[in-house]
Amino acid sequence: MNQPLNIAIAGLGTVGAATVRLLRDHRALHAQRCGRDIVISAVSARDRGRDRGFELGDIQWVDDPLELARRPGIDAVVELIGGSDGIARELVETALAAGRHVVTANKALLAHHGTALARLAEGNGGSLRYEAAVAGGIPIVKALREGLAGNAVDRIYGILNGTCNYILTTMRESGREFDDVLAEAQALGYAEADPSFDVDGVDTAHKLAILTALAFGTEVDFDAIHIEGIRGVTADDIRFAEELGYRVKLLGIARRTGHGIEQRVHPCLVARTTPVAHVEGVYNAVVADGDYAETTVYQGKGAGGGPTASAVVADIMDVARGDFVPTFAIPAGDLAPSKPVSMERHNGPFYICMTVRDEPGVMAEITAIFRDEAISLESMLQRGRAPGEPVPVVLTTHETEEAAMGRALALISGLDTMIAPPRMIRIETL
Ligand SMILES: NC(=O)c1ccc[n+]([C@@H]2O[C@H](COP(=O)([O-])OP(=O)(O)OC[C@H]3O[C@@H](n4cnc5c(N)ncnc54)[C@H](OP(=O)(O)O)[C@@H]3O)[C@@H](O)[C@H]2O)c1
Repeated sequence: MNQPLNIAIAGLGTVGAATVRLLRDHRALHAQRCGRDIVISAVSARDRGRDRGFELGDIQWVDDPLELARRPGIDAVVELIGGSDGIARELVETALAAGRHVVTANKALLAHHGTALARLAEGNGGSLRYEAAVAGGIPIVKALREGLAGNAVDRIYGILNGTCNYILTTMRESGREFDDVLAEAQALGYAEADPSFDVDGVDTAHKLAILTALAFGTEVDFDAIHIEGIRGVTADDIRFAEELGYRVKLLGIARRTGHGIEQRVHPCLVARTTPVAHVEGVYNAVVADGDYAETTVYQGKGAGGGPTASAVVADIMDVARGDFVPTFAIPAGDLAPSKPVSMERHNGPFYICMTVRDEPGVMAEITAIFRDEAISLESMLQRGRAPGEPVPVVLTTHETEEAAMGRALALISGLDTMIAPPRMIRIETL
């Protein structure tokens, strides 16, 4: 057998501890598949005394994670600390600058510094692997970089945050409002005490930034992404969507358009007949539209120690086998500058929910505003009749430019009969 691959792991939390367990549980299988043993030489975390569910045995503990990047004899550094900057970034940069291979699950780091890190890796003879950073246990990075390498990809999209999907699923099943379901998800440990990264769409955007670079050969550009979370989605929206044949999902979408690559994260109405409509609870799904493969769908657990460790170990095994392809599928120096596309240019159908005072002539005023913006309506739902009282009115439109929709909604908001600002959710044609 060949020389073992010596690795060092920084971070022994949910993912780090599961990675150690997986490497130990299947050590012989991994060695067989790689043609060499994978040896954990050293580890680092903050608290040496913490029970992590395994004994260190002959693994060396190091207090300063940066030492792992400089330690002689280490072939690959596995960064499982997290955070876009600070110690995780310093560790990855130091290891790559020293020509070491780096495996990470850190989507925030890659979303903000992915292009520079890829250049650093490729310029120093190392590699940067990050399968676990997108959709946990789903091998979507490998699928895009290698399995679909022959295709031009026109669109990639997915449910990339299990917390949001759990909340939306529970809202639909129980008819409860967002705040109530979020509080329950926090109590059950499905949502963080500070849920903003998840529910405001930032975590989904981190993953989308990485997928976009991989699929379209552009620099990773987190700032180009339009981001909206799910706080504004109501139980009524979910119920009306259901009546109209849709489900509400938070999607990350990157699409080639005539103006550039559109990158957006927002709640969407998706037809109940599409695969992503049936991805429920904490599950993730990614869909890639390739020109020759056509549509391929990937589904699985997007988080948790086991699924994420599975992706981390797959990367470590690629390093052990010497299987190297450029970080984002093409050499980092060839990644094209990203060209952000304004949402004003987005074209698509819309769902609009209004609460209006039930008075004669209200609908005529609203439809006149849409007519003046050349927005054609597809359907209309009005529930109940209560003269002088608030009633919900729901409209869906045919494809229209978002700039026109914005102007129409501004005018509608100003109508005397409008009780609350209208809510808009984009309908995604999948
Ligand atoms: N959890 C998931 O399901 C999941 C899924 C996909 C990707 N990820 C990514 O995986 C990475 C790790 O996530 P996690 O959930 O495993 O996090 P976690 O449970 O909070 O673990 C973080 C680990 O980093 C260590 N650490 C923090 N600051 C440190 C420092 N200054 N020096 C040394 N060690 C330090 C902690 O040490 P102590 O244990 O001693 O406190 C802990 O072991 C993140 O980038 C995350 O985004 C996680």
